Amino acid sequence: MKTFKLVIAGGGSTYTPGIVKSLLVQKDRFKLNELVLYDNNAERQEAVGVIVRHVVEMFDPELKLTLTTDPEVAMTDADFIFAQMRVGLYAMREQDEKIPLKYGVVGQETCGPGGLAYGLRTIYPMVELIDYCEKYAKPTYWIVNYSNPAAIVAKATFRLRPKARILNICDMPVAIERNMAEILECDRHDLEVDYFGLNHFGWFTKVRLNGEDVTEKLKSYVAEHGYMPQNAKSDVLHSDPSWLHTYENAKNICSAFHDYLPNTYMQYYLLGDEVVKSSDPNHTRANEVMEGREKRIFDAVADYRAGKDVDLTKFFGGVHGEFIVDVAMSLAFDLRKRYLVMVENNGAVENLPSDAMVEVPAYITDRGPEPVRVGEIPTFYKGLIEQQEAVEKLIVDAAVEHSYEKALMAFTLSKTVPSLLVAKKILDDMIVANKAYWPELH
Ligand code: G6P
Ligand code: MN
Repeated sequence: MKTFKLVIAGGGSTYTPGIVKSLLVQKDRFKLNELVLYDNNAERQEAVGVIVRHVVEMFDPELKLTLTTDPEVAMTDADFIFAQMRVGLYAMREQDEKIPLKYGVVGQETCGPGGLAYGLRTIYPMVELIDYCEKYAKPTYWIVNYSNPAAIVAKATFRLRPKARILNICDMPVAIERNMAEILECDRHDLEVDYFGLNHFGWFTKVRLNGEDVTEKLKSYVAEHGYMPQNAKSDVLHSDPSWLHTYENAKNICSAFHDYLPNTYMQYYLLGDEVVKSSDPNHTRANEVMEGREKRIFDAVADYRAGKDVDLTKFFGGVHGEFIVDVAMSLAFDLRKRYLVMVENNGAVENLPSDAMVEVPAYITDRGPEPVRVGEIPTFYKGLIEQQEAVEKLIVDAAVEHSYEKALMAFTLSKTVPSLLVAKKILDDMIVANKAYWPELH
């Protein structure tokens, strides 16, 4: 049986234990010969590693587990690299969220100015990761990337390293499908969706349950209740109050526009004023995560180190871990499973630019994704997407050209920002906050 060396880049992430669990429950089909946690923050990774060691012991005690900060040790002969870096950690996410809110603008880690700031931090570290993989990993390596902002990462890496074997993915559509399945009282694996958009900016156009079209049924439900199931089963992912508000907010979109089912992230672009009103500028999602998910991990580490017992199941993140493992297995074994992933448009959506990085269904083969043809999309959606796509293009230009003006254009063009003057204030504050991370802008 073929075995794989798999690296988790961003080993110190709060998501690592959940991903490792999802990997190891597949050990009879997807057998690892080595699991490497790789991070530039040794201390954080050692801590999360305490939990991961227990997960390994629980599911595959023979597995060789390596923790390293050395890219050569990590990447040498690797088959798969799961990337989930968070450049600047939650402290910088907090800035991404709080700076725009100071000016009455949506404060979010991947949407609006926050996403642009995070993009400027992440582009070059992702390029560096690709270069390490090209240098040390097996020639058939695959990077499966969760690192955000995935839309900008996908665009930048495709432009700067077009030959890289990287597949950019997002768990939000799958998480919405999990909720759809709970609404329909079925297994999410029995659903098949049609979808178009950019990452964190798209719509489900059809949902089928074992071949039966259930789109209209879901649309009327979501127009009334949002994506909140009546009897939600528990998945640790997205169960905090702010996430419940997000799921519910879809009703305000779905009850107004009847064509499709929106990705939850559309709230930041279509309901920006409401989102700002319901945000606390002094206590954002980053604070909620630092006080919740992140604290739970480090508390558990402290418990283990003090010889106490820990309930590991609270770190098993459901669809988030399952999805990245499913995609990797389809790549590894040429399973040709159909998943939503980011690909170069190339005509998939006929009336969008061919170099846009779109999120559409694709069959995942061992040579990569084979996207489906979406056809033409209607004016409203096309207009929204073109604007957002141009924003993402401009921020990549800004990074590559070190251009302040391009960055300002990106901030100004974002649908979340009301004027050039506000854009400039936010950008200038963000330049100061991101001094240690951004390419210099002139
Ligand atoms: C979803 C998105 C991810 C994002 C995450 C944030 O899962 O797909 O891209 O990072 O939400 O969740 P959090 O719990 O950190 O706010
Ligand atoms: Mn995502």
